[in-house]
Amino acid sequence: SKGLPLKGKQVMITAGPTYEPIDPVRFIGNHSSGKMGYELAKVSANLGAKVVLISGPSNLSIENDDVTLINVISGEEMFQAAHDHFNDSDIVICAAAVADYRPKEVAGQKIKKKEDRFSIELVKNKDILLSLGEIKKKQFLVGFALETENEIENAKGKLKRKNLDAIVLNSMNDSGAGFGGDTNKITFIDKNLQIKPFDLKTKEAVAFDILNEILERLNA
Ligand code: PMT
Repeated sequence: SKGLPLKGKQVMITAGPTYEPIDPVRFIGNHSSGKMGYELAKVSANLGAKVVLISGPSNLSIENDDVTLINVISGEEMFQAAHDHFNDSDIVICAAAVADYRPKEVAGQKIKKKEDRFSIELVKNKDILLSLGEIKKKQFLVGFALETENEIENAKGKLKRKNLDAIVLNSMNDSGAGFGGDTNKITFIDKNLQIKPFDLKTKEAVAFDILNEILERLNA
């Protein structure tokens, strides 16, 4: 119906950081709060969708009968959960800040302080978004890009390489954008390389803009 444009659709969203364990008490993580992804989940549900929200560690909660929250910790767990729910999804938005690398070994016991120097060997995490781009069929697949330089070019590169339908660029150079806060400033780039910049807005309003752009293209 007109009021619920996502009725009958399943939306899958990844959100938050991942924590890559070093030992039982330590991890490698990042500053993602999960806000952008949780707002996307809420707005999708308000537009009529059934939502699967796959979230790394976050203080946020969500009370919505149309949102199934799946909590994960590491990038590997997020990869598994995303693949478990991909086939049933019509729209997939990867807003999580997944660690690119994880410690090669996870110590079974808390690592003791000894030498002045200490290094941890890291290995690459699988790229969830890239792997979904390789197997996608009907899904409208959207990634995010968090950039600090050559923003548009880097985002376009990710769009192509990961076989996306669109990418949402947020720049660390824009104040009020990116990690943590309640606002974001995005540029929406679709696979035809149509580039649409938006003003600084609340993450809720940004989520609405992103879903609007997706809907316009799904209905075209
Ligand atoms: O959570 P908030 O505090 O609200 O902050 C929101 C945000 C800044 C984290 C969010 O808007 C955002 O930009 N998320 C993507 C951050 C990021 O890691 O970008 P990237 O350029 O490194 O990754 C590109 C894309 O590949 C992203 O869609 C990411 O989810 C995906 N990816 C990356 C690596 C990996 N191993 N698997 C992935 O799926």
